[in-house]
Amino acid sequence: MDETLIATINKLQDALAPLGGGSSSPVDLPQITVVGSQSSGKSSVLENIVGRDFLPRGTGIVTRRPLVLQLVNRRNEPPSDSAKSGKDLLDFEGSGAGKDSETGQKSEDNVEEWGEFLHLPGKKFFNFNEIRNEIVRETDLKTGKNLGISPVPINLRIYSPHVLTLTLVDLPGLTKVPVGDQPKDIERQIRDMIMKYISKPNAIILSVNAANTDLANSDGLKLAREVDPEGSRTIGVLTKVDLMDQGTDVIDILAGRVIPLRFGYVPVINRGQKDIESSKTIREALNTERAFFENHPAYRAKAHYCGTPYLAKKLNGILLHHIKSTLPDIKMRIEHSLKKYTNELAILGPEMAESPSNIALSMITNFSKDYTGILDGESKELSSQEL
Ligand code: GDP
Ligand code: NA
Ligand code: MG
Repeated sequence: MDETLIATINKLQDALAPLGGGSSSPVDLPQITVVGSQSSGKSSVLENIVGRDFLPRGTGIVTRRPLVLQLVNRRNEPPSDSAKSGKDLLDFEGSGAGKDSETGQKSEDNVEEWGEFLHLPGKKFFNFNEIRNEIVRETDLKTGKNLGISPVPINLRIYSPHVLTLTLVDLPGLTKVPVGDQPKDIERQIRDMIMKYISKPNAIILSVNAANTDLANSDGLKLAREVDPEGSRTIGVLTKVDLMDQGTDVIDILAGRVIPLRFGYVPVINRGQKDIESSKTIREALNTERAFFENHPAYRAKAHYCGTPYLAKKLNGILLHHIKSTLPDIKMRIEHSLKKYTNELAILGPEMAESPSNIALSMITNFSKDYTGILDGESKELSSQEL
């Protein structure tokens, strides 16, 4: 039931995208939005959650358009499949079976995981290098080649038996000084783009901060606190724990003694630039990460609350919790727009039936019916069960 709910929300997001997505959507759907300074490790965190190399990444401004990334656990398709436990879904160990690297070279062998872009309907990408190339190509198409930015999102869906069903939004990092063709007010433009996503009350904010920088100076956390002063929909991620000075650790932050967040912080270790150059696989990186936390005197006792697998599990739980608590409002908005669009369709008449916006409208109508049906089932469950 829970996985079906998220799968339906993903479909609804696709249906709404032709109408401009973002602010003009009639319904704001819950999703997890990644925020942080440039090069804090946002794209690396996302890649580790997915378990595959597919995002353009590195020093400097690499992410230059919002990326709406829908992860779909394929064992839950068709939706009638029974629900799986989070532990079972988080099968990073198994993700390497049958292929010895994340290069995507053996594309024929790799039919169990693929990506699809909304702007290329029907085209399945089995090679994750090609997914990365397409993101780069699409980014350049809308922003020019010289480091410009654009608020127009790229929509990518990844089907895999090795991911949790989640929707994540990767955003350009906060930066201060324009480079290349970037406008003088790049800082404000990126800030506005981020604010557009995180100011929605149903956005879960994944605030990514490098552990080797001062949390009090975190621009991402500052923005998050502006829109979520209670920290009730913000979760902290501390990257680069491996790069901290000897004898220092993030225990004070984890204990909520620095900037407390209701959902707390999860420390992680991503691949460094050297690891990327030596083609260290994500699987190797996850093993290194686990060994680091299990052997470190400061983290050993709480190692199961550290690292990427715990982060992914926690995110899924928070997303479900959030969806459930916003169900009544979402249901009301969907029913309202359903009524409105039904009336509009009736007025437009049959000769308009094939126009792109009408196709979008009828998709919304169909998905809204699905969704409302699920919500009716959900609200019965809600009374007897808490997350
Ligand atoms: P983004 O700009 O926030 O998306 O950051 P990226 O994911 O592109 O990472 C920026 C740089 O930091 C890359 O060179 C990464 O290899 C490096 N990096 C990210 N996370 C970590 C980490 O946990 N440890 C180490 N050592 N390097 C990291
Ligand atoms: Na970067
Ligand atoms: Mg990035």
